[in-house]
Amino acid sequence: MSRIAYVNGQYVNLRDAAVNVEDRGYQFADGIYEVCEIIGGKMVDFPRHIARMQRSLRELRIAEAMPLTSLRVVMQEVIRRNRINYGIVYLQISRGVAHRDHGFPSPYVKPSVVVTAKSLNFAKNQATAAKGVKVITTAENRWPRVDIKTVGLLPNVLARQEARDKGAYEAWYVDADGFVTEGASCNAWIVTKDGKVVTRTAASGILAGITRAVLIEVLASMQLKLEERNFTPAEAYDAAEAFVSSASQIVMPVINIDGKPIGDGKPGGIATRLRQEFHKFAAIS
Ligand code: PDD
Repeated sequence: MSRIAYVNGQYVNLRDAAVNVEDRGYQFADGIYEVCEIIGGKMVDFPRHIARMQRSLRELRIAEAMPLTSLRVVMQEVIRRNRINYGIVYLQISRGVAHRDHGFPSPYVKPSVVVTAKSLNFAKNQATAAKGVKVITTAENRWPRVDIKTVGLLPNVLARQEARDKGAYEAWYVDADGFVTEGASCNAWIVTKDGKVVTRTAASGILAGITRAVLIEVLASMQLKLEERNFTPAEAYDAAEAFVSSASQIVMPVINIDGKPIGDGKPGGIATRLRQEFHKFAAIS
């Protein structure tokens, strides 16, 4: 079965799907994106992802390309046409197509909208989570506006590759003050030896993850204590548990950071429970 993408008003075969070479997403990374998990053919936490998308667009002064109800229909249609039961749907909106000039196009051009979806292997993800993953730390080198989910991901690409080159799954950025910010495509968490769950505040240095926001609700329901504060790699090495969160991985236990085993070197109990509980709290529609 061929995969189908939505590109600027049309559903096309993925192999034929294309954008103009003067699209500002291509020329300048002048665009934003969102990734939603799909479960049972339905989107997880769509309203929160769309609210974050609207914020990203506002921050970059990109117009809303289409009404939200239409956008939702398009995303559902891409999921349906690709017969995705479990996977992710990807939405990208750029400022549009115009002759290359750094300033915004004048006169105004319509933003470009692309939606794709792909199946993920649920059993494989579960097996990875049951084993846990390794992370490395690397120096933060991104722009300060990482709160905007832009398609400008070159530092993230390089950090992920550095992790792979070192036999790890993900890289955690460490800022100039020595604190962990987040992963190349996920939020970073630790659990202290006295059972407190720690993650950086969303005030600076991170993307306010939707999975992170839902997990904060899950923690409250489990009567676990949350501390939103900075932590260093040294504190993480000594933690009882560590894990990462994102729409595509939900909760992924971390068992090793920079070559040092975390806790007993196996996925932690709290991370594992959070992974199990997550979808009871997520809005699936
Ligand atoms: N990444 N931080 C960064 C830098 C991210 O790229 C992501 C998500 C997150 C977690 O956000 P959320 O829980 O809303 O997915 C944090 C997506 C999944 C991606 O780039 O594929």
